[in-house]
Amino acid sequence: MNVYFDNAATTPLDKKVLEKMLPYMEQGYGNPSSIHKKGREIKSAIEKSRSKIAELLSCEPGEIFFTSGGTEADNMFLINTVIEKNIDALITTKLEHHAVLHCCDYLSKVNKTKIRFVETNEKGDINYQDFEDALKSNKRSLVSLMHGNNEIGNINNLKKISKICTQYNAILHSDTVQTIGHYKIDLNDINIDGIVGSAHKFHGPKGVGFLYLNNKHKISPYIHGGSQERNMRGGTENVYGIIGLAEALKISCEEMDEHKEKIISVKRKMIELLQNKIDGIKFNGLSDNLEKSLYTVLNVSIPGIDDQQMFLFNLDMNNIAASGGSACSSGSDIGSHVLAEIKKYDGHSSIRFSFNKYNSIEEVEYVVDKILEIIKI
Ligand SMILES: Cc1ncc(COP(=O)(O)O)c(C=O)c1O
Repeated sequence: MNVYFDNAATTPLDKKVLEKMLPYMEQGYGNPSSIHKKGREIKSAIEKSRSKIAELLSCEPGEIFFTSGGTEADNMFLINTVIEKNIDALITTKLEHHAVLHCCDYLSKVNKTKIRFVETNEKGDINYQDFEDALKSNKRSLVSLMHGNNEIGNINNLKKISKICTQYNAILHSDTVQTIGHYKIDLNDINIDGIVGSAHKFHGPKGVGFLYLNNKHKISPYIHGGSQERNMRGGTENVYGIIGLAEALKISCEEMDEHKEKIISVKRKMIELLQNKIDGIKFNGLSDNLEKSLYTVLNVSIPGIDDQQMFLFNLDMNNIAASGGSACSSGSDIGSHVLAEIKKYDGHSSIRFSFNKYNSIEEVEYVVDKILEIIKI
């Protein structure tokens, strides 16, 4: 059996998405900026994709800007907002993805921006009192708090965060890379300035994503060049990527309830089997709480496993793909900054299993059997 349980890193491309993209790889080669028919046709396909995404998120097409993925969209929002909006402090937590944290490092070095980290507890929950204290002590804040954590799966209550930000007149950005395509996001229903999406997290192609930029929040271009993306991002568009992104989001939104139900049953089974068969197993963050964590992510610490890399290697030898934390900076062995922060990394291996719509209960049973063999219980 071959099991892919590393879907928070990336998901396999849906065949229906590939079919939609292929004609744009073969015949649809016109440059969308060209004024002849071959170009105009492609431009129109891009705009249809933009409108589809806007419709699915309940926003205006003009509020969607295509990017190379989640990282670029986060950078685009955070860097230009800080530079242009007289921001006194960027308020975030140490549990964010590096796409946000490394922007903070950059801004604090280059722009001397004050970065204020809100406290989180051993489960990764935000301390809301500390959050309000941070907002109170700064005149103009930019808040960046992710929706779903890619490592431990914790879901932040965006509506609650948005209400608090509105009360303190703070600008709000959320890294929604792990929730777009998996949870209903209705931008009519929440006051937020920017969110981001990445196609490869919901069975779309890699290297394409978007920034939603609320019409009320104007910033300057991030990439300077041609007039693509209404002057916000120069460079010839990733045409088939954009087509794939819109199709993947359409399928994910249309089939969301069905996928959610299936994936939750897979995650529930994994929790149940691990709990029953491994004494002292720990679930990190809120990942065993089905209400408060992403249904796609389960982060565990297995007693007796001190060498995480060796354990992952043994899983790999049994054709099981899982991860030791975030795979987004593959090659680095510094360990998970998220696990380090929530102080759960107590010498036990932390392994992230993350699921998709194609996974099954049989795969869970196979993986748990192999884990037991590896740890020789
Ligand atoms: C929460 C989060 N933000 C941002 C990213 C980066 O997205 P991309 O790979 O599209 O740049 C990831 C990827 O793992 C992620 O999980």
